[in-house]
Amino acid sequence: MNIEKIKFQLDKNSDQHLYIQLYSKIKKLILDGTLKPHTKLPPIRKFADELNVNNVTIVNAYNLLQKENLVYKKVGSGTFVNIINYDMDIEVDYKQYLYTLNKEKINHYIYNSENIIDFSNTTPTNDLFPVEDFKYVINLVLDRDKGNAFKYQESQGYYPLRETIKNYLSNYTINCDTSNIQIISGAQQGIDILSKALIDYGDIVFTESPTYTGAIAAFKSRAAKIIEIPIKKDGIDLNYLEDKLRNFRPKFIYVMPNFQNPTGYTYSKLKKIKLLELANKYETLVVEDDYLNDISFNNKYPETLKSLDKNNRVIYIKSFSKTFMPGLRLGFMIIPISIQNEILVAKHISDISTSGLMQRVLDLYIKMGLFKKHINEINKIYKKRFDLMVKSLSNYIPKQVSYSIPEGGLNFWLSLPHGYLSDELHELCFKKGILITPGSIFYANKVKSNSFRISIASVNESIIEAGISRLSEIINDLFNKSDINKYHFNPLTHL
Ligand SMILES: Cc1ncc(COP(=O)(O)O)c(C=O)c1O
Repeated sequence: MNIEKIKFQLDKNSDQHLYIQLYSKIKKLILDGTLKPHTKLPPIRKFADELNVNNVTIVNAYNLLQKENLVYKKVGSGTFVNIINYDMDIEVDYKQYLYTLNKEKINHYIYNSENIIDFSNTTPTNDLFPVEDFKYVINLVLDRDKGNAFKYQESQGYYPLRETIKNYLSNYTINCDTSNIQIISGAQQGIDILSKALIDYGDIVFTESPTYTGAIAAFKSRAAKIIEIPIKKDGIDLNYLEDKLRNFRPKFIYVMPNFQNPTGYTYSKLKKIKLLELANKYETLVVEDDYLNDISFNNKYPETLKSLDKNNRVIYIKSFSKTFMPGLRLGFMIIPISIQNEILVAKHISDISTSGLMQRVLDLYIKMGLFKKHINEINKIYKKRFDLMVKSLSNYIPKQVSYSIPEGGLNFWLSLPHGYLSDELHELCFKKGILITPGSIFYANKVKSNSFRISIASVNESIIEAGISRLSEIINDLFNKSDINKYHFNPLTHL
């Protein structure tokens, strides 16, 4: 539709700034498809005259739209509607879950997204992506490598990148050989190709409970039988684990020892060592998914299992999605020599190789010291969000809700008193524009859960406090409306 034909009415008596009103109206037209991609927005002066407002009002509204990638500017030509790509969160099961809940609500969510505060999404916000530095490095690579950058890359990965990673890993006291490194198109692919390479129908895999939904989906796609081992604040329940190891031989134990998803818990060093001892005793492999180790809030990076692994029991998976840019689809694994061939075959069948161009760019990016610089920068931003979240939780969350404060990562795990369901809370929140992730999706077997996850990845500082205050009101509403409150009220103390 031609935007010139649309009548915009701004309310000069409203408390809301005129530029916000205009921004919201245009945003709605873009999101509901009325304004098609590449439609030109009216020139600033002309639009300001028409609406009888200052030029600055239009400029501010356009700037806000641009910040959210809803429009793009072409120098000398004007401002145009962008192609809209609704945010994808990796946790596919969760989105499917939302879809089954009610499609109309999804539409409601999309169309009114300016009011949504999304604590459910673990994808970093766009402002955290180092676009300019990346552009600079990609041009250097293209000038240097020309057509070579677009050839098929060897399946194991671009050799110089594997070497760079090997050197980089010495910062984390992980010693490995370049030949043990396998480049992957994101950690999810790593989990998937491991499943393809190692799991046959009916094989057993152990996971923490709760655990990452993408891993559950990959293991189930291979018809694995999943045995869930409860996780405590200081790591996996070792007694339970050993009990299961005595009776079953898993293909591997899949764990996230640092800043676990969804709980945010970090294993104590002792538990890491004991877990490795058990893996050795029962001759099983451990898959360590290190998706977030670089985001630490107390200046200490907890040791990885891999750095403690003396017997080559650990398959280490590292993602660059939360610490760099998820759309690059880059990660790597360190794999014991004994399973290298199977992994290489599975990788080749999956996508032949990870993008050679992106591998070359990442290689140079790390070599130029830009990756380290970037990690430092995002840590500062996440730390501010983290501090605000901790303060807001302490100020607003009802005392009956228990949680612990993680040492790093992006996730907080909160628990309602027993008897309350986080699915119900999620529904209530959804209606009021707050997105949380109910605990029930993080279990391989269907369970009811009183816990839920909130993340600081997709929320800017400006909305964290308001979001937690709103969430707290909704939790209080849940307590007030429910009979459980009267009969089973079982306040847990803050942990
Ligand atoms: C624990 C965990 N592992 C793996 C992934 C997938 O990461 P990638 O984008 O590198 O595939 C995620 C994404 O959220 C995750 O939370």
